[in-house]
Amino acid sequence: NTRILHTDEPQAYVQAVAEAVNLLQAGEVVALPTETVYGLAADALNANAVAKIFEVKERPSFDPLIVHLPHKKDLEDVADVPEDILPVVKKLAEKFWPGPLTMILPKKACVPDIVTSGMPTVAVRASMNRVFNKVARTFDRPLAAPSANKFGSISPTSAAAVKAELDGRIPLILDDGASLHGVESTIIKIEASSPKPRIIIMRPGPITQDDLKSYGVVVLLKNLKQENKPEAPGLLESHYAPRTPLRLLESPEDFIPEEGKTYALLSYRGDADDGYADLTDWKGVHVLSPGKGKLVEAAVRLFYALRELDKVGADEIIAEPVPTQGVGLAVMDRLRRASAKR
Ligand code: TXA
Ligand code: MG
Repeated sequence: NTRILHTDEPQAYVQAVAEAVNLLQAGEVVALPTETVYGLAADALNANAVAKIFEVKERPSFDPLIVHLPHKKDLEDVADVPEDILPVVKKLAEKFWPGPLTMILPKKACVPDIVTSGMPTVAVRASMNRVFNKVARTFDRPLAAPSANKFGSISPTSAAAVKAELDGRIPLILDDGASLHGVESTIIKIEASSPKPRIIIMRPGPITQDDLKSYGVVVLLKNLKQENKPEAPGLLESHYAPRTPLRLLESPEDFIPEEGKTYALLSYRGDADDGYADLTDWKGVHVLSPGKGKLVEAAVRLFYALRELDKVGADEIIAEPVPTQGVGLAVMDRLRRASAKR
């Protein structure tokens, strides 16, 4: 059975880190907190250990993993950064690492093919979570860590959510409370270009377009023409999906309940609640940022709310849109994928 170890007292913290490191050294997988969502970690340079991640998650082998560095200076251990983008990569790492920014770069030979799904590139970041960082630095090797959920389902933002996803499949979860950001890291690819490099956002996340714009010309993958698109193997249309079908409304006025069907509501600010209240006998309602409409708060609560609404037994979850500014773009990206045809 899967054990959960707490990390909130100094002694428990030391003990938990030591146990996680022992398991990693033995080639096992361990669930660890990061500042975005909980991750399922294994020794990135040990192909057998990484294979266990795919097995536990039931993840298809074509979906590559993110490699987490103990220190930002370890980048050159796993990636060969091309000369022409080296200055911008250095600046981005200096500014955003440790933190929720993942860069796709040419890989070094020591990174096993299973990590990158056979691609010549590797996705790299460094987590700023205190517990993750301590484990990574004590282990002192890069960690491959995808989100700690079964493939295609909702990313976990608490130890309890990891347990609900993977109980009995992994030996240990380190608990560091609710995830700080609540959505996965921003993934970028950088292309040399004159006068400024091009930064392509492959997956929107906590580091926003605005945060990146002084480092280059920022473009969204989804806005690129097919022939210019870099490969985005794991970014499937349908993802982050609750078991209950989810419908994302264009605008809050769009919802007309069907006779005999039951619904749950994912509301942004809850101010439309009055309008919705009479429409149907909601089986459950979650509000992402009550009254205030703060997108950072909405991101933090998103996956928790989806998990909870998935439990109420409604026929359909109705989600209100949120503004696509800042981290709202990441929230809408996850909601779109959650609502995509499966
Ligand atoms: O915040 C996060 O990034 C979390 C925490 C645990 O670090 N991790 C995470 O990993 O979200 P995962 O595996 O759920 O999502 C990583 C995505 C994959 O879907 C894949 O498409 C993309 O990163 N990816 C990984 N390597 C890539 C590569 N070489 N080229 C393009 N995309 C890549
Ligand atoms: Mg994931």
